[in-house]
Amino acid sequence: MMSFYELAKNRYSERYFDPRPVEQEKIDRILEAGRMSPTACNYQPQRVYVIQSEEALKKARRIRVSHFNAPLMMLVCYDIETAWRNPRDRLYDNYCSGEQDATIVAATMMYEAEELCVHSVWLRGFDSREIAEVFDLPDNHVPVMMFAMGYPSDTSKPSPWHFLRKPLDETVTVL
Ligand SMILES: Cc1cc2nc3c(=O)[nH]c(=O)nc-3n(C[C@H](O)[C@H](O)[C@H](O)COP(=O)(O)O)c2cc1C
Repeated sequence: MMSFYELAKNRYSERYFDPRPVEQEKIDRILEAGRMSPTACNYQPQRVYVIQSEEALKKARRIRVSHFNAPLMMLVCYDIETAWRNPRDRLYDNYCSGEQDATIVAATMMYEAEELCVHSVWLRGFDSREIAEVFDLPDNHVPVMMFAMGYPSDTSKPSPWHFLRKPLDETVTVL
């Protein structure tokens, strides 16, 4: 079995999906891994939309963000009324942790999917208002990111960007 380190090293953004659907047991396991993520004060403000029916996928494919014809998509939002706030933060007024909560849930789901050989690409190039309109989201659900997910096709390969990693000394400061 692959170690987490190997999983993290091997992952790349998938943009060439096989049309074969992802099995429901795998979707359930990905969602369950996300459910166990840490969130601020354990408030669990994440709201995950599984875009799985043909009708929902058709809607997602209308949105001006690449979907790469994935057979499965997920939209991760947070509930702005449930997320933790930090009144002590002096840089951000009443700082809301919702985006961080949604993001760690999404990252956990991404790596669980990877473990199950389900590839994904993280998508944020969308207009949040368009997402809210297309999926008729309640006002308190703030869209954070979307996944296109599925099995890799025969033409699957990492993009050239994947190989452009900065050396650690450009991104890490040891104090
Ligand atoms: C916050 C965030 C937003 C992203 N938005 C998009 C996007 O809208 N479209 C896309 O094709 N890839 C998107 N990506 C994927 C990145 O382009 C990709 O992770 C990066 O180029 C490194 O390549 P790799 O994931 O293959 O290692 C996004 C990734 C992150 C973390």
